[in-house]
Amino acid sequence: VHLRLLGSQRNIGGELFFGEASARDLAREFGTPLYVFDASDFRGKCREFLAAAPGSHISYASKANSSLAVLSLALEEGLDVDCASLGELEAALRVGFRPEQITLHGNNKSDEELRRAADIGLGRVVLDHLSEIGKLADLARGMRVMLRLAPGVDPETHEAISTGQEDTKFGFNIADGSAESAYREVMKRSSLRLIGYHCHVGSQLMNSHAHQAALHRVADFAVRMGSPVEEICAGGGLGVRYVAADQPESIATHCEAVRRGVEGAFRAAGTAVPRLGFEPGRALVGEAGTTLYKVGVRKQVGGRVYLSVDGGMADNPRPQLYGATYTAINASRMDEPHGAVFRVSGRHCETDTLISEAFLPSTTDEGDLIAIQTTGAYNFAMASNYNRYPRPAMVMVGDGTPYLAVERETLSDLFARERVRSKATP
Ligand code: LLP
Repeated sequence: VHLRLLGSQRNIGGELFFGEASARDLAREFGTPLYVFDASDFRGKCREFLAAAPGSHISYASKANSSLAVLSLALEEGLDVDCASLGELEAALRVGFRPEQITLHGNNKSDEELRRAADIGLGRVVLDHLSEIGKLADLARGMRVMLRLAPGVDPETHEAISTGQEDTKFGFNIADGSAESAYREVMKRSSLRLIGYHCHVGSQLMNSHAHQAALHRVADFAVRMGSPVEEICAGGGLGVRYVAADQPESIATHCEAVRRGVEGAFRAAGTAVPRLGFEPGRALVGEAGTTLYKVGVRKQVGGRVYLSVDGGMADNPRPQLYGATYTAINASRMDEPHGAVFRVSGRHCETDTLISEAFLPSTTDEGDLIAIQTTGAYNFAMASNYNRYPRPAMVMVGDGTPYLAVERETLSDLFARERVRSKATP
C-alpha cells in the first residue's frame, strides 16, 4: 500500500517528519497521544481559498478546531471567523478578531449569546428561528443579520452531519413558508438589517452538487422576497482525504462551482449578483492535523491482530460517531511496506476501534509510534475526558520551531472544578 503523505509530512530515512521536525522527537518531547498541527499546510489552504474565491467573504468555521493557535493563524491569513457558541466567540475575540469579522451561529442561542453579540456589534448574526428575531431586535441597534435557510436538499454524507434537508432542526424551511414568515418578521424590525441568506447543506462532501442545488433554491427565494441581497453564504462542507478512496474536489473547483451556481441563479432572475460567503472548517484544518500514538499492546485474536494505542475515543470520537475512517502510518518504519492488516484500537473501556482495517508493516509492534493522518478537524474540538484521561497536547509545526500550542491536561486539571460534600462540622 502506497503511503500518501499530506502537507509537510516527509519520509526521511524511514522516519516520519513534519518539515524539519521528526515525529519521534516530538513524541519524546511532548508525549503521546499528541495532536500535531501543521501551520504551513493550514496557511496554504487558507491562501488557496482566498485565491479561489476573490472578493468573497471567507470565514473559518472555528468549530472544526478552535484552539487559540489555529484561530490566530486564521486571523493572520486574513480570514474572518464563524462561531457557534459563546465559547467560540470569546476564543475568536481573545486572539484578536474584531467583532465585525465574526459571524454568530446557533439553532438555540442563549440570551447571553445574543446580548454579547448585540453589545459588541458582531459582523453577522445568522438567525435560525422565529423567537430569536424579536429577542435580538430588542437588544440590537443596526445589527447585520442573515436568515439561515433550510433549502430541502439531501447531501450525500453521514446522517449526523447532514443539515440541508427539509427535516432538520436548522434554519427556516423554504418549502413550508417559514422562511417567508421570518423574512417578514425581520423586515418589521428597524434595529435589524437583513444583509442576506445562509445555508449549510452538510459536511465532508466530495463535490458541490448539494451546494449548487441548495443555492439555487436560496437564490430563488431571495429573488422572490425582492429586497436587494448583499450576501449569500454557502456554509462549509467541502471534504478532505481520510483514506485513499476520498477524492474531494479541489478548493478551486469547489469555489468556482458554487460561484457559478449563485451567479447563474441571480442572472437568470435579472437581479444583481450578491457577494458570496464561504465557511470552510474541515477543508482548512483537516489534513493539517496528525495524531501520534504509541502502541502499547499487540495482540493476536484468531485471525486478527489488534494494536492498542494510548489514546482513542476521548481524543477522536469520530469513528464511533460517524463511522469515520482514517489512515495510519508507522512513523518509524516508513520504508517497510504498509501491507499487513491490523485493527487499531484505543484504550478506553469499550470497543473504541480507531481504524478497523489499518495497513501497516507486518513488523509493527509494541513501542512503535503510529501516526493517524487527517485529524486536524473535529478531534481537538470534540475531545473528552472519558475514563478520566487528560486531553492530549497540541504541538504546532511548520511555523518556525515547533511549539506547544495546547498543554497536555494534568490529573489535577481533571479534578479542579469538583467538590465532595464536606463533613458536617460539630
Ligand atoms: N458553517 C456551518 C453553519 C456549519 O454548521 C458547519 C459545520 C460549517 C460551516 C463547517 O463545515 P465543514 O466545512 O467543517 O464541513 N463534528 C462533525 C462535523 C460537524 C459539522 C457541523 N457544521 C464531524 O466530526 O464530522
